[in-house]
Amino acid sequence: MIRLDYENVRAFLSDNDISSLGTQAAEAHETLLDGSGEGNEYLGWRHLLAEPDTGLLEDVALTAENIRRRADVFLCIGIGGSYLGAKAVIQALTPYFQPSRLAGSSRGADHSDTRSPQEDNETPEVIFAGHHMSGAYMRGLLDYLDGKSVCVNVISKSGTTLEPALAFRFVRQWLESRFDDADSRIIVTTDPSEGALNVLQRERGYKKFDIPPSVGGRFSVLTPVGLLPISVAGIDIRLLFDGAVSAFTKYGSAKQGGAANNDSINYALLRYGLLRKGYAIDLLSVFEPSLVGIAQWWQQLFGESEGKQGTGLYPAIAQYSTDLHSFGQYVQQGRRTLMESFLMLENDSGDLGVPASDSNLDGLDYLADKHMSTINRAAYEGTAKAHLDGGVPNLTIWLDHLSAETIGQSIYFFEHAVSVGGYMLRLNPFDQPGVEAYKREMFRKLGRP
Ligand code: PA5
Repeated sequence: MIRLDYENVRAFLSDNDISSLGTQAAEAHETLLDGSGEGNEYLGWRHLLAEPDTGLLEDVALTAENIRRRADVFLCIGIGGSYLGAKAVIQALTPYFQPSRLAGSSRGADHSDTRSPQEDNETPEVIFAGHHMSGAYMRGLLDYLDGKSVCVNVISKSGTTLEPALAFRFVRQWLESRFDDADSRIIVTTDPSEGALNVLQRERGYKKFDIPPSVGGRFSVLTPVGLLPISVAGIDIRLLFDGAVSAFTKYGSAKQGGAANNDSINYALLRYGLLRKGYAIDLLSVFEPSLVGIAQWWQQLFGESEGKQGTGLYPAIAQYSTDLHSFGQYVQQGRRTLMESFLMLENDSGDLGVPASDSNLDGLDYLADKHMSTINRAAYEGTAKAHLDGGVPNLTIWLDHLSAETIGQSIYFFEHAVSVGGYMLRLNPFDQPGVEAYKREMFRKLGRP
């Protein structure tokens, strides 16, 4: 399970501060549990864990298996909550470098759908599109897809978001020009009945998954929005889901009772307390590149949930040690409005020992036989201490190891924390009214009727 270490916050929030915030946090927690708060029509992300739909999980896994059999590339079109969760989980749980399934493939430019048996265990490349409006990207993408067997998942709850709608128009036309069976290569994930995607889906008979109306985009990774791409990437969605259910039981169910010893609530409480003391930015920092996607997902979850009514912590992210050589200077000595949340792994399974050398010309023999994880851990410990000394309160969220289960746990941990934190701030954590502002201006310029 997840462990929260907040020793490096104690110099900034006294025991008194923390215990007086405890009552407020417990109230916010109760508001979430009894569904009496603002935005309570969007608590489906909790209900789907309280009563898991095993039939749906099976349908998603079977659909994914079918896609894995036929596709070189699985193209996921979506933006915001309709892509960040899937990207995060896939980035966390698949190897950095995979041999291309196309290398050595007999498949040529004829877009054939047949696969040799030894290819059956290979994973399609999962590519994300429709999360920006770059023409150069789209041109490059369509060129890249040429000659490959492609399946497409268009994911949009509203079915009207411009970025994915535009991307889907390009991709659909491309697909129809290349494949006789284009319609069977398209899967739509959208609202049960509303939106333009439903019109198209009904007309063409595309396979469809519903996004429950009670689950907002940034809370939707454990619906088919995230589960289908994650399953196509070869990750066991049952383990992911079970991990989330176990965290729901621990942090978020009525059985768990009050707020004491609930680290998800403590995380919300500490962030809230520090915000009240003038710390306006929460920097989520990771020391594993595989966790960057989780940080980006966290950034949307917290940014869209809390950043309203002139309050909330700005959610910034850092990948260390890379960024210690970039804006690390600012973190150490810039304006003192930063708190920091480290997201760390207790155990690193993919470890590597530093080799000895004959000559020690690089002067690194003092590290010989040490593991990379030991060195990376020293970098974390040194950074946490230096940032504390520099006036940055910091806490650490420890995942035991990297697996579908622990990632599932962390998903619920953060979803619960941001909801409790939102209620502590006395706002609706489940809406995002500010997102409409840029759209209004953009559509005015584009002359949308
Ligand atoms: O969290 C949210 O609600 C948003 O980020 C949406 O997911 C995003 O705007 C995409 O919306 P849609 O799925 O309707 O295309």
